[in-house]
Amino acid sequence: MTRPKPFLRRAHAMYGDVFTMRLQGDDFVVLAHPDAVKEVFTGDPDLLRAGEGNEVLLPLLGEHAVLLLDGPRHLRQRKLLLPPFHGERMQRYKDIIVSATEREVATWRPGEEVALARRMQEITLQVIMRAVFGVTEADAVARLRSVLLSMLDWVQEPRNMIVFIIAITKPSLLDHIRSFGRVMEPLDAELFAEIRARRQVPDLAEREDILSMLLLARDEDGNGLTDEELRDELLTLLVAGHETTASALGWTFERLMRHPDVMGNAVEDARGGDGEYLDAIGKETLRLRPILPIVARRVQQDMTIAGVDVPAGATLAPCIYLVHHREDVYPQPDAFRPERFVGVKPGTYTWLPFGGGVRRCIGAAFALFEMQQVLATVLRSVDLQPEVRQSEHTARRTITLVPEHGARAVVSRAA
Ligand code: HEM
Repeated sequence: MTRPKPFLRRAHAMYGDVFTMRLQGDDFVVLAHPDAVKEVFTGDPDLLRAGEGNEVLLPLLGEHAVLLLDGPRHLRQRKLLLPPFHGERMQRYKDIIVSATEREVATWRPGEEVALARRMQEITLQVIMRAVFGVTEADAVARLRSVLLSMLDWVQEPRNMIVFIIAITKPSLLDHIRSFGRVMEPLDAELFAEIRARRQVPDLAEREDILSMLLLARDEDGNGLTDEELRDELLTLLVAGHETTASALGWTFERLMRHPDVMGNAVEDARGGDGEYLDAIGKETLRLRPILPIVARRVQQDMTIAGVDVPAGATLAPCIYLVHHREDVYPQPDAFRPERFVGVKPGTYTWLPFGGGVRRCIGAAFALFEMQQVLATVLRSVDLQPEVRQSEHTARRTITLVPEHGARAVVSRAA
């Protein structure tokens, strides 16, 4: 849990492309070969369940959350959620992303030291509130921000995560945790009020935010999402999309600042290019510093994967980190080289920062677009130097892998 990368590397070197980690009675069969990853991502989702493994999030996200579901209920929710996240829609969010970034960068002073990962969290939160929830009026944004941050702070408290883990077997425990109610009640009140108010607006079809689009979405039987389903999915999109994207941006700057040649090309692209190089930087950062080291699928019946017998009850874990560091796929895998992805489409089973198959991250195109736009906007406005020359190590923040010191930088005005 605390040093996942050295541990995974050592186990890979010792045991090869398939090995088992035993964690508190659960067997995790780690897969480091793209062929095995393909078997899992193309396998039967009823037999390889992802939702079960996320049950710890149930008290927070609710029973309708796409992250927690499996089988037909998962597919129904996923189909309703997907259309607003299609790649071609992303341009519509450009103004929101650029202005959130400009507002943030305007608060940085020349000579100031900033922890960029933290600053990126403010940007990604603003973007989710406006592009996903569709809240734009300043007072409403401030209210929503305050209740969301209280919840995120509560969840990040290690003691509270333990409460969640215990609550898997003893759900009534949460009724006694008053601080949880104090955080969730105002948040739910705010979200349900927003959903109910939005149902009444006359121009729903013209609005471009994701909540408005979800309100119009219908499944094959013509049914839309209920208020409870919308509430659970909004929180899911926040929890899945906010810190992940901010951490990815933090790593992007951490790497860029230590590679002046790449930084030079990035600045050139930001200040007059077509954004292709910035896009490649995002992809290479997610290869080299994936935000989640593994994805997980709970096996429902005995099966053979990668030639190995896996019993029912075990968890298959395609290992993002190890696949991304294979010398046979990525020569000099520890080097930061965005050129790998210039004009090259990443491989479905060799580039897995967003997982794969029917569980692949719904927000992948959104996250990559946001990274590209934030990067361009920051590099147009300021120059950044690393606070210290040494690379930052990896630390864990709840479940994401983040730069240990938060990607610390010294700001100067753009040359
Ligand atoms: C760089 C940023 C991000 C990373 C690294 C990331 C990574 C992931 C990963 C690894 C999964 C699990 C995939 C699997 O099990 O195969 C996932 C699922 C998911 N992500 Fe993301 N994500 C990011 C941003 C976002 C954003 C911006 C959103 C939405 C606003 C989002 C929404 C979701 C949802 C809803 C799921 C669940 C999909 C399902 O269960 O069908 N993510 N993400």
